Amino acid sequence: MPAYAVIGAQWGDEGKGKIIDVLAEDAAIIARYSGGNNAGHTVMNDAGTFKLHLVPSGICWPHAMNVIGNGVVVDPDVLLKEIKENKLDPQHLTVSDRAHLIMPWHIILDRLEEERRGSTAIGTTGRGVGPAYVDKVSRQGLRVGELLDPQDLVLRLPEIVNFKNEMITKVYGGNPINIDTVFQKTSEWISELAPYIRPVENLIAEALDSNRNVIVEGAQGALLDLDHGTYPYVTSSNPTVGGTLTGLGMGPTSYGGVVGVYKAYCTRVGAGPFPTEIEGEVAESLRGERSNPNSEYGTTTGRARRVGWFDGVAGRYSAKVNGFDAMIITRLDILDGWDEIKICIAYEIDGIRTEQFPVDAAMLERAKPIYETVPGWKESTRSITDENQLNDGARAYISKLEQIVGVRTKIISTGPLRKETLVLDPIINH
Ligand code: IMP
Repeated sequence: MPAYAVIGAQWGDEGKGKIIDVLAEDAAIIARYSGGNNAGHTVMNDAGTFKLHLVPSGICWPHAMNVIGNGVVVDPDVLLKEIKENKLDPQHLTVSDRAHLIMPWHIILDRLEEERRGSTAIGTTGRGVGPAYVDKVSRQGLRVGELLDPQDLVLRLPEIVNFKNEMITKVYGGNPINIDTVFQKTSEWISELAPYIRPVENLIAEALDSNRNVIVEGAQGALLDLDHGTYPYVTSSNPTVGGTLTGLGMGPTSYGGVVGVYKAYCTRVGAGPFPTEIEGEVAESLRGERSNPNSEYGTTTGRARRVGWFDGVAGRYSAKVNGFDAMIITRLDILDGWDEIKICIAYEIDGIRTEQFPVDAAMLERAKPIYETVPGWKESTRSITDENQLNDGARAYISKLEQIVGVRTKIISTGPLRKETLVLDPIINH
């Protein structure tokens, strides 16, 4: 059972990119299954620092094939930029012919729709991800594979652009798209992307059948899931484990492990409920200086992330909806040096204590966190790779999180570099 899913367990930005880069050493395929270039994965290793939005985080390993699955929405401009910047050839990158395209009108509609929502805006990344999924679901989308049949595409484009322009100008009062620009872009995509476009289902099935490992790479996080997240303040895809199956075309029995990546505290970007959010000095300290590449500012948009204490109620819920069999804790070193640390163990909603994560965003907005305060630790956990170097305070904190979430920890990330990783128990069984 050589597939392993690595899934964001909070509101995204848990540090999945670094973890995937670590695990990819033992994998034949690294496959993304959802989202688009709203994601931002940072990989830091001996070869340098890589900020990736669309291509999977296995690109630093020359033996690995990186796959963009059918569940992903692909902005070809972004894909081409990442291919060029990272010199990726078709032996190392495959894009599913069934993945949907983010077209220029999707990016415009994302912005216009956010403007229309005003004070109830979602705070999207503005990359056209939501509108591209809207077209997919309403069966009006264009798929990557259509770039392989340019004659048909060229015939269809004028009607699509006309319809989108009606919407942009008449519903939202925006400026229309120039069809010539669309033709020009499309012809560039056709010639440059064609060698990378293939069906991915067989590729993955063959690897699994021949017992080679497949790492399934999450984007965003469970609490941003369209179905299981804090709707409507969510992304438009399914980052949870169900999305891996539909987003790649594989079966659940392929899994040898489904692991959740949890930051040692919580962050969120964009609008929406965040019960353990903190502000002021403690928050600034958690967030770090903008100039520090390891600070809490978005990789995709540069926005300051909202920060807060570890939310055990949300963390436990996330473990349940994904069926995690292990957790990976990242950014533990950021908590070094605190006198005390808070962990949310329950909520009080409308005067009633609950340990359940509410379905309703408005209810979650009213949730007051009930904290357990635990002692911090003075010793540094930065860069440690040996379990014996883990101080008692940090060890107790990890045990507490395990107890609350109900899943054991297999890896602790102790810094942004690949080598700053403490493996308690390997994820991939050899
Ligand atoms: P969208 O995915 O751009 O439509 O944005 C919807 C919500 O998901 C917004 O709150 C975004 O800030 C959030 N979001 C989308 N992608 C990410 C991510 O990779 N990390 C963290 N938040 C994200």
